[in-house]
Amino acid sequence: MTDNFKLDLTHRPRRLRRTASLRALVEETVLRPADFIAPLFVVEGQGRPEEIASMPGVFRLNLADVVKECRALHRLGVPAVALFPKLDPKLKDHEGTQALHEETLILRAVRAVKKAVPEMTLLTDVALDPYTTHGHDGVLTAAQDDVANDRTVGILAKMAVLQARAGVDLVAPSDMMDGRVGAIRRALDAAGFTGTGIMAYSAKFNSGYYGPFREAVGSAQAAGTRLLSKATYQLNPANRREAITEALLDEAEGADILMVKPAGLYLDIIRELRDATRKPVAAYQISGEYAQIHAAARLGWLDYARCRHESLLAIKRAGADMILTYFAKEMAALLKA
Ligand code: PBG
Repeated sequence: MTDNFKLDLTHRPRRLRRTASLRALVEETVLRPADFIAPLFVVEGQGRPEEIASMPGVFRLNLADVVKECRALHRLGVPAVALFPKLDPKLKDHEGTQALHEETLILRAVRAVKKAVPEMTLLTDVALDPYTTHGHDGVLTAAQDDVANDRTVGILAKMAVLQARAGVDLVAPSDMMDGRVGAIRRALDAAGFTGTGIMAYSAKFNSGYYGPFREAVGSAQAAGTRLLSKATYQLNPANRREAITEALLDEAEGADILMVKPAGLYLDIIRELRDATRKPVAAYQISGEYAQIHAAARLGWLDYARCRHESLLAIKRAGADMILTYFAKEMAALLKA
């Protein structure tokens, strides 16, 4: 009886999934090397690359190796890198003063890469967490019970100008202070850097998945182990409307690109922001998202290549125009081949 069961169907969507070539014809989302921004960690000295334990395949690189890596990424068609400094702990202090030194590591890295690979678009974080002993993204109030919003913004605006002067194409405020995008825009313009863009970490959530990154840059101390957590500035993962409000404020203050971070767990935010703005939307597939795929693949529980691809495809399908991802290099190599 079930053997000759027949449906009288006009629509059979499986028709277009029948062969590989039909499936290729109707594919809606395609990844390409130019979708990716590679985050790179820079460290002082001439040492060999140091692998980050919780991020297999990701290394802290000395200046010369960062330049080499940028050349390789450029050859593979990756258009941009985001540079992050791992500071010597001796250079950190309560106020993060090292962030405003002309010769600080990140500015030397920017100048070196710009000189060697001028075509590469360079991004740098504007936030104090790599520079402060407490690991917060800003300076603290006298009572040390909060990050001092306005005083922090004043420092960040100076930091952005230094980065622009060193050759950064897009400064990326990742601190989540109120009013920072507008202040940075005004400071850049006043210093003559009208062409330097702002990629705002607009919807940056207070995520547990930043753990491996904090190991990489040595900023783990804050992050909730002390009285003051990043929850007073980063978004509550429960809040969708507030995320869009933040992003639209950044747009109004002059952000050129709006970013959502993390990415894979926040696809609804990416989509909603895509529909709410005409600006480009970036998404940051963060360290914990990367670590999860690696860990499960090592245990033999997930297929590495498939899940890597699917994780990025989902972010692009949700509406991201560009993706910051630690998979950038290997994906570009794969897609270019
Ligand atoms: C710091 C910053 C963080 C990341 C990028 N910039 C972490 C944090 O807020 O502690 C996270 C990136 C990642 O996890 O890959 N402002």
